[in-house]
Amino acid sequence: MRLTMIGGGGFRTPLVHAALLRDREPGRVTSVALVDIDPDRLRTMARILAKQAEGVADAPTVTTHTDAAEGLRGADFVFSAIRVGGLQGRAHDELIGLSHGVIGQETVGFGGISYALRTLPTAMHLAELVKRVAPDAWVINFTNPAGLVTEAMARVLGSRVIGICDSPIGLARRALSALGLAVGPNVEADYAGLNHLGWLTRLRVDGVDRLPELLGRPDQIEAFEEGRLFGAEWIQTLGVLPNEYLHYYSYEREVLHSDQLASQTRGRYLLEQQTGFWADAGRAPDPLAVWEAARLDREATYMATNRDSVGMGERNADDLVSGGYENVAIALMRGIAYDEHSRLILNVPNAGTIAWLDDDAVVEVPCVVDATGAHPIPGAQVPDFGRGLVTTIKYVERETIEAGVGGSRAAALRALAHHPLIDSVKVAHALLDGARATFPELSYLY
Ligand code: G6P
Ligand code: MN
Repeated sequence: MRLTMIGGGGFRTPLVHAALLRDREPGRVTSVALVDIDPDRLRTMARILAKQAEGVADAPTVTTHTDAAEGLRGADFVFSAIRVGGLQGRAHDELIGLSHGVIGQETVGFGGISYALRTLPTAMHLAELVKRVAPDAWVINFTNPAGLVTEAMARVLGSRVIGICDSPIGLARRALSALGLAVGPNVEADYAGLNHLGWLTRLRVDGVDRLPELLGRPDQIEAFEEGRLFGAEWIQTLGVLPNEYLHYYSYEREVLHSDQLASQTRGRYLLEQQTGFWADAGRAPDPLAVWEAARLDREATYMATNRDSVGMGERNADDLVSGGYENVAIALMRGIAYDEHSRLILNVPNAGTIAWLDDDAVVEVPCVVDATGAHPIPGAQVPDFGRGLVTTIKYVERETIEAGVGGSRAAALRALAHHPLIDSVKVAHALLDGARATFPELSYLY
C-alpha cells in the first residue's frame, strides 16, 4: 500500500511515520512518498525517518519528491497537510488581527479566514491533480482550516476527501482520563459541530453515559485541559464539553487581552522555534533527537495565551505524549483499507445528520468507516445554544470558499464582516486590506 504525504516535509510527519512503523499487520503501508516544495526539509525529513526506522524490520520505503504529480502516482492514500505562506503567514495573520483589535488565530476568526484564502487555490489545484493522477486514492485532509478546506476539495473529489482533526478525540481522551478511564473499543464519544467548533455531548463507556458523573465533580472537571480552560462552573452550566477552540468565543475578551500582552504570538514563537529546529536538525548527527525535543516544547506551549488568560498552569504530562493526530489518520486509513467499520469523529458532508444544516455542509461528527468511506452516524446533536454559532460559521466558511475558489472580494468581505469575532464592517474592510497588502497569494481576489 502506498501513502503519499503532501507537505511531507512538515514537522508532524515523524508522528505519522512512527505510527506506520508500529503497524505490523499484513496489507500495511509499504511505501511512503513525501512531497514538499522545500528540498532541504525533504532531505532532513528523510534522515529523521531513516533514524526512526533503524532496527525495524520491513519498514516502509521512503521517497521524496518536489513534483507533486510524481509523488502522487500510484497512491492509495494521500495525506494533505500544507501551510500556504508558512508560519510567517500565520504570524502575519495574528499581527494583522491584533493591530485591528481582533483575534488572528490560525483557524478562528480573521486568522482562519485569511489562512483559508491563501490556502484554497492550492488546495483546489491539489484536488484536481489527485483526480487526474490518482483518481482512486482517498485523500485525508489535515490542512487547516480543515472543515472548510475539506468542503471545498469535496467539490472536486466528492466523498474521496475526508477531513480530520485530533481535538475531538483528544477532548474525549482527556475527559476519560479524568474519570480514570481510557479510550478503547468500549468507548463511544458523541460529538457534534464543525471543525474546531463542536461539543462532546455524551461519553458512553460500555453503553453507559459517564458524562453526567464527570459533570458532577468540579475537581475532576478541572483535572483536564478543557475543564480548566472553561472552568468547572461554566462546564456544569453548559452540561456538555466544548472543544478547546471554543475558548476563543467564550472568552474572546480575555484571550485578546492575553494575546496583546504576550511578548510574542503563537505563530511568531513557532516561526522562531521551527527555524531553529530545521537548521539544527539539518546538521545534527541525530536529527530525530532534535525533532523530539522540539516536539515536546511545541506540545508544552500549546495554546499558551489561552491558558494564561484564565491563569492556568502547565499542561498535564499526559497531554505531551502525542497520539491524537497520527492515530486518527492511521485509524481512518485502516478503516477504509481493511473495511474495519471503525467509529471515528471526522469531517464529512452532513448528509442529513444535523437536520437543520444542508446535506453538503461538511460537519465534524462520529462516523463509521468502511471500505466505501466515512459515513456519519445519525443522531449527532449540537446543543441548542450552539445552533446559531454553527449556522453563522458555516455561512462564513461558504463565503470564504466562494472567495477562495471564485476570487470574489465581496464574498471575502461578507465572510469577515459576519464573523462573530469581528465586530465592525469597518474592521472587516481594514482586515481584508491588511491581508491583501501583506500576502501576494491573495492577488487573485478581484
Ligand atoms: C491542534 C489542532 C490543529 C492545529 C494545532 C496547532 O492539533 O487540532 O488543527 O493546527 O493544534 O498546534 P500548534 O502547535 O501549531 O499551535
Ligand atoms: Mn485541528
